[in-house]
Amino acid sequence: MTPLHQVILNKDTKINPIWIMRQAGRYLPEFREIRKSNPDFINLCLNESLSSEITLQPLKRFDLDAAIIFSDILMLPYGLTQKVEFEKGFGPKLGEVNIDELSKKGEIDFVEKLYPIYKLIKKVSNDDITKNKNTIGFVGAPWTLLVYMINQQSPKKNLKKDFFKNEFLINRILLILDKFLKIHIKNQIDNGADVIQIFDSWAGLLEEKDLPNYVYSPTLNLVNYVKSLNTPVICFPREIKNYKEFCDIVKPDAVSIDYNVDPKKILNDIKIPIQGGLDPKILLSDKETIKKEATRYLDIFKDHPYIFNLGHGVLPETDPNMFEYMVNTVKNY
Ligand code: CP3
Repeated sequence: MTPLHQVILNKDTKINPIWIMRQAGRYLPEFREIRKSNPDFINLCLNESLSSEITLQPLKRFDLDAAIIFSDILMLPYGLTQKVEFEKGFGPKLGEVNIDELSKKGEIDFVEKLYPIYKLIKKVSNDDITKNKNTIGFVGAPWTLLVYMINQQSPKKNLKKDFFKNEFLINRILLILDKFLKIHIKNQIDNGADVIQIFDSWAGLLEEKDLPNYVYSPTLNLVNYVKSLNTPVICFPREIKNYKEFCDIVKPDAVSIDYNVDPKKILNDIKIPIQGGLDPKILLSDKETIKKEATRYLDIFKDHPYIFNLGHGVLPETDPNMFEYMVNTVKNY
């Protein structure tokens, strides 16, 4: 069994596997080199020879326990024919939702559009370098995808005042998302993904009263679906105020915590395996601080099944040497 599966499925507390969100990305010069000659991010994600190479870049450098596929949560709206672009220094820019077009979208057409992602997963999971390591597939949670689809860009701190004005439209989109997220998950697993992470990056934007409708119910549906395919599922409901309530209701196999969470409180509240937490900004400091902070998380979770990770993605300005130092600190713990 892989170290990640041992922690998630067997609740092993003696090992601390490590992988890092955005481990394939802009902090690596070899990624920036490829990116320079591939200005279109979507096309890069759909080039399975390059996207598999990028996925494996961090594993060639560091002693990590999993590969996370180089892709994006916004490939799903792209597969549903919504326009998606990435502008340098701005982030994602989406076209307007055309609900009639979304409703017409068929499974075959969708899978054909995203087919290179499944080929990338097959390549990565069959590569020698991922032997006894996991290949992590992922999707955006329905709520976070809805935010991008309606808002057409990152919401930064707040939702537009009239975000919920067209409830009928929102409910139709959520139904479509449920259908195609399941298709996307199934194809990732069929091609070699052996862990699925669900990113709910904007769960923290909702008021408590809206969580059941927009986060708990739709995510529970997906979690149950992944479980039915005998694959462990990790949820990352970033900045949600009540992680315990989320875990009690949605019951993922493991939960990833953000860096605003108090790890000691979480340890008391939550019984399932925990992942992550360390503030990515720590990697911009010095070795002493990195060692102290990484060790603090490992100490707190020493008798709890724990997967080492950060509390959000690694920052582009991170020095790969500091990243390596963090990995080695965890491995030598
Ligand atoms: O290594 C990995 O973690 C796998 C790759 C990965 C990417 N996006 C590649 C990427 C993963 C897991 C994602 C998930 C994703 N994408 C999320 C959820 C996690 C989170 O960060 O909260 C979200 C919200 C998105 C949407 C998205 N994609 C945004 C907001 C941006 C722009 C922000 C930025 O960092 O510029 C992207 C672009 C993106 N996705 C990049 C990468 C490597 C940067 C692209 C570039 O090179 O310009």
